Amino acid sequence: MPQTLTLPGTTDKRLAALLTLLSENATIVISGARIAREIGVSRSTVWRWVEELRKLGVYVKGQRSTGYFLEKVPDLLTPDLLRKRLRGSLFGKRAFHFFKTDSTNRVAMELGFAGEPEGAVVMAEEQTAGRGRAGRMWHSEKGTGLYVSILLRPRLAPAQASLLTMLAGISAQAAVQGLTGLVPELKWPNDLLLNGKKLGGILTEMHAEPSAVRFVVVGIGINTNQQRFPGELGFVATSLRKESGRITFRLELLVRLLTQFESDYSRFLNEGARFVVERFEKVSDFAKGRRVRVDTGAESYMGVTAGLSPEGLLLVSRENGLLTTVIAGDVTEVR
Ligand code: BTN
Repeated sequence: MPQTLTLPGTTDKRLAALLTLLSENATIVISGARIAREIGVSRSTVWRWVEELRKLGVYVKGQRSTGYFLEKVPDLLTPDLLRKRLRGSLFGKRAFHFFKTDSTNRVAMELGFAGEPEGAVVMAEEQTAGRGRAGRMWHSEKGTGLYVSILLRPRLAPAQASLLTMLAGISAQAAVQGLTGLVPELKWPNDLLLNGKKLGGILTEMHAEPSAVRFVVVGIGINTNQQRFPGELGFVATSLRKESGRITFRLELLVRLLTQFESDYSRFLNEGARFVVERFEKVSDFAKGRRVRVDTGAESYMGVTAGLSPEGLLLVSRENGLLTTVIAGDVTEVR
């Protein structure tokens, strides 16, 4: 049952409560006795957890005799703070937080199979096997990027699930723009780019029957505060920090993203595919008039993007004059 479901590795609720208490009172010294009382543990447990938080990279100042405080609010995706900010919304009910997990998509799929209701949010500070599109890895350095998956149970046919990828891209673009002023380019079907480099991506996975979706997991990764990327990634990836020179508070980005997604999602369910297709065409410069190479695995061809089909598939006008619908494959801009 969802209520009793325990996931190995999730952040202990009382540890999260300690973090929230310290965050909400940042710069104020709180005595160990008060913390113990408010969280409902012994003073020695408080001391042990403070040590635990320090090991996880949260800089808690103070000591047993004086009390504890945070010099500044840490940029952690604490579930309590998220729930408070999203109270009353679809994503403000159940949040699962990990300091480290393999993949938030993997965890959210597990929740889906276990009967968890729609709206669950899975967040991680670090992923050891972050999943990207086409079996690629998603580089998920600790504490610098946004790594989040949401569980949905829409009444859709399996073929429509990819519209949720595009929808999440639309919402992510709006969230980034609202918070930073930067406008990432939306590249069909799942990329967010800044200055031609990858800022973020979306990976949708689902469990479905032939005619209906049982549940969908939409996984979103946004490179936020990375200052550099290892090896080859340095040439193709970027972050909000690299582009703006400023630090972005990930919780703020997540709150905007989920708020925006909830409203876009409800319009999609009410208005149908047309809402997603029209909005995507409007906010994606890439969808029309770009010279591209399409690699489907079976073939490779050149053409110019020509908008989306009513189902949300990319149309490419080929050099041989044919208009082709891209069902799957890599689409690369050729300048
Ligand atoms: C892509 O290849 O562009 C998609 C990347 C999706 C990455 C995110 S990070 C959070 C979620 N968990 C995963 O394992 N992957 C997605």
